[in-house]
Amino acid sequence: MKSIQSKIKKAKKFLDKKQCIAVPTETVYGLAGNAYSDLATRKIFSLKKRPLNNPLIVHYFNLNRLKKDCHINDNFLKLYNKFCPGPLTFILKLKDESKISKFVTNRQKNLAVRFPKHNLLRKLLKEIAYPLAAPSANISTRLSSVKASDVAEEFGTKVKYILDGGKCKIGLESTIIGLISKPIIYRHGGLDISRIEKILKRKISININTKKKIAPGQFPLHYSPGIPLRTNALKPKKEEAYLLIKKRKNTFKNYYYLSKKNNLNQAAKNLYSLLRKIKNKGYKKIAVERIPNTGIGKTLNDRLYRASKY
Ligand code: TXA
Ligand code: MG
Repeated sequence: MKSIQSKIKKAKKFLDKKQCIAVPTETVYGLAGNAYSDLATRKIFSLKKRPLNNPLIVHYFNLNRLKKDCHINDNFLKLYNKFCPGPLTFILKLKDESKISKFVTNRQKNLAVRFPKHNLLRKLLKEIAYPLAAPSANISTRLSSVKASDVAEEFGTKVKYILDGGKCKIGLESTIIGLISKPIIYRHGGLDISRIEKILKRKISININTKKKIAPGQFPLHYSPGIPLRTNALKPKKEEAYLLIKKRKNTFKNYYYLSKKNNLNQAAKNLYSLLRKIKNKGYKKIAVERIPNTGIGKTLNDRLYRASKY
């Protein structure tokens, strides 16, 4: 096995040349490029077939480096100190002197930033002289990648290097919070909103309204396995694969377990890979058992709801 140092060196070499590579995070794999480079960030959009008006998240090593690009505030500091590095993305105000490429934000003055918690990626971020723009490593609207092999399945040889960091620990994308004025949640994710509310000592409004299109990731059709999916299913219909959260007495070959013990964290970690597996087995439809709507169950239900809009 290659040493960690040689993997990081190789990753850095591609990035320094304004190429895109795939990187592991604790949530999902990212398709990363130098966030200060027009060339690198444009490549991300074209590889993902992503509309240019859907802005990217920028990944930083630490607060010091972020300060070059964004204005920060008290709410940000409280959450940063408690949860970072971790599965939380902040929308902050971009500084005029920031070098972030205009393609990252689609020329807006707001920037989405996060501090990912994965050893390999943190080592890489520490060694490079720029932050990394990195949307999830999948073709636009499709399932996010949680393993190196998923990235290869999405992009084939078009992505020249995958920094393989094993399977993502959380398996669903980060929670997004806007902090430019009143705190506001734009996406359910890996960090439970109740934990954020505890730190900020206030109830936070949630705007995952798909009509206003504040974050294009809020578009209904998203996170799709590419075949019809129905939620809250008591039992599967003919030819459906059935996704379950707890063990059934009788299990059939079309039954796939997100968890056998009603464990929501485990279910989150397994969701995208099981959906991918079911699709690859040739099933034409998926039914999913009801998932409890608590903790990360809210994020699971959000992703399933969007996937059901296929
Ligand atoms: O866990 C994650 O957040 C992963 C890993 C790779 O870090 N990244 C990820 O990126 O999920 P992406 O691009 O697939 O989703 C980012 C979402 C998009 O829905 C985008 O519209 C929204 O963040 N977004 C980005 N910049 C924004 C901004 N300035 N204001 C509002 N929403 C923004
Ligand atoms: Mg995505």
